[in-house]
Amino acid sequence: MAQKKIRQVSELHELTLEELDLPRQSLVSAAQKAVEKAYAPYSQFLVGAAVLLDNGIVISANNQENVSFPVGTCAERLALGYACGQYPAANPLKIAIAARRMETPSTYAAVTPCGMCRQTISEYEVHFGQEMEILILTPNQTVLVSDGVKHLLPFKFEDLNR
Ligand code: THU
Repeated sequence: MAQKKIRQVSELHELTLEELDLPRQSLVSAAQKAVEKAYAPYSQFLVGAAVLLDNGIVISANNQENVSFPVGTCAERLALGYACGQYPAANPLKIAIAARRMETPSTYAAVTPCGMCRQTISEYEVHFGQEMEILILTPNQTVLVSDGVKHLLPFKFEDLNR
């Protein structure tokens, strides 16, 4: 039987920190600062996220855990929720993410957003009609850049017939 294949190619760009322009560098740096304020006593995995809105404001947050584990919330969703809650008319253009283990203060762990956070990014992309750039700091001081959530969430939930 001849089967039709539907392919979706995902790609991330890797740049050194120096190769990023200044606004992106400072967004990554805001995510790094947010890492240090994370509340992660259970996983000891600290995550920071910083969102750049189209009004120029940067909102950062971090993971906030709970003794009832599923109640804990990821950095990305807290940052986006606060940003869009405070500035509902401002488009979140970019989100930077940084993470590290509690016991390794000087080494970053490369973290791609979890499924729920990808879905959250997707929601705001659809709402504002624009893709969000996702910047992920790696242990080698490089940054992985995704032009929109489509590279991280292929075949995401949407009405394919629209
Ligand atoms: N975490 C985030 O904050 N963002 C992600 O994208 C993945 C995971 C948090 C949740 C939990 O507090 C800790 O990292 C370990 O999973």
